[in-house]
Amino acid sequence: MRNVIDVVDLTKKEIYDLLDTALDIIKKPKKYSNKCKGKKLATLFYEPSTRTRLSFESAMLELGGSVIGFSDPDSSSASKGESVADTSKVISCYADIIAMRSYQEGAPLVASLNASIPVINAGDGGHCHPTQTLTDLLTIYREKGTLDNLTIGFCGDLKYGRTVHSLIGALSRYENINIVLISPEELKLPDYVKQDVLDKCNMRYKETADLEKSLDKLDVLYMTRIQQERFTDKSEYERLKDVYVLTAEKMQSAKSDMIVLHPLPRVNEISVKVDSDRRACYFKQVANGKFVRMALILKLLKDKNFIERRLGDDVIFNKHVCKNPRCITQTEQELDQAVKLVDKEKEIYRCVYCDKQV
Ligand code: NCD
Repeated sequence: MRNVIDVVDLTKKEIYDLLDTALDIIKKPKKYSNKCKGKKLATLFYEPSTRTRLSFESAMLELGGSVIGFSDPDSSSASKGESVADTSKVISCYADIIAMRSYQEGAPLVASLNASIPVINAGDGGHCHPTQTLTDLLTIYREKGTLDNLTIGFCGDLKYGRTVHSLIGALSRYENINIVLISPEELKLPDYVKQDVLDKCNMRYKETADLEKSLDKLDVLYMTRIQQERFTDKSEYERLKDVYVLTAEKMQSAKSDMIVLHPLPRVNEISVKVDSDRRACYFKQVANGKFVRMALILKLLKDKNFIERRLGDDVIFNKHVCKNPRCITQTEQELDQAVKLVDKEKEIYRCVYCDKQV
């Protein structure tokens, strides 16, 4: 394994192994304190971040390695127009592993196609965020003792919330999972996640706009922020921004062992008063993020086999054009358009970089 761009890059067994390693790190941190001595992590963050970047950086430091990178693209050659492909080739000369966050969907995939070191997607636009998913899975596993037989409610911005897309992708591998999608009409889960994950894996799910009515059935409530930065129409954001607020009062109708997760940052969708409820696990989730990223960095750096990343044989080049304004194909120099046929009958093609239908 070389890169983690999407959760599907990890098998179910690899995910369990990562969770086990993370649990071992929590128990015996000293054992791991020198494991990455002499290794460098490059954090290339083209988009704001607190938790993801700093947890990657502290993960590498706690493994005895060091960190280089940028947190503001204006201080990098991206501001001069350097492509993601060129930046990835350059960073491969300095570092041993890359964690990349971008507002452009598919940018980490392009990086992985050009880098000669492992690339981890630390969030690309409204698309995916696989390491947040590992954080979420570790938290569910620690708090509920299982990843099977759970009813999980996702509430808020399911359209642009990349953490939701990746976590649903991962949950499709576990047994007897019920998904409740709680969002206003305008922020429903994208079709590609519904068709390619929920429908394809025959997962049980229902869509509703009502948080209160759903609460008493949930084992896990995954709250999300309305993603202001991804709205093209700012008045729509203003209209939707306070659509769900979880309060201490609403928590009274939830199960006594339900857990509340949130990838954070919270804006106002969870009242601060909920924080003292023992079911509120979002700050524990933050702590878990560092341990699982330590496990991931270790795993990727241990794997000595060079597996060059290439797009699959089923990819069709330069026949269809992706219209998603946030797709990396819109800006990257001479990047071939690339699509996959995902539904023969309906003739649905999706961009391989951002998964949007073309
Ligand atoms: C999330 C993200 O960046 O997608 N945050 C995170 O990584 N912890 C969620 C968000 O920004 O709302």
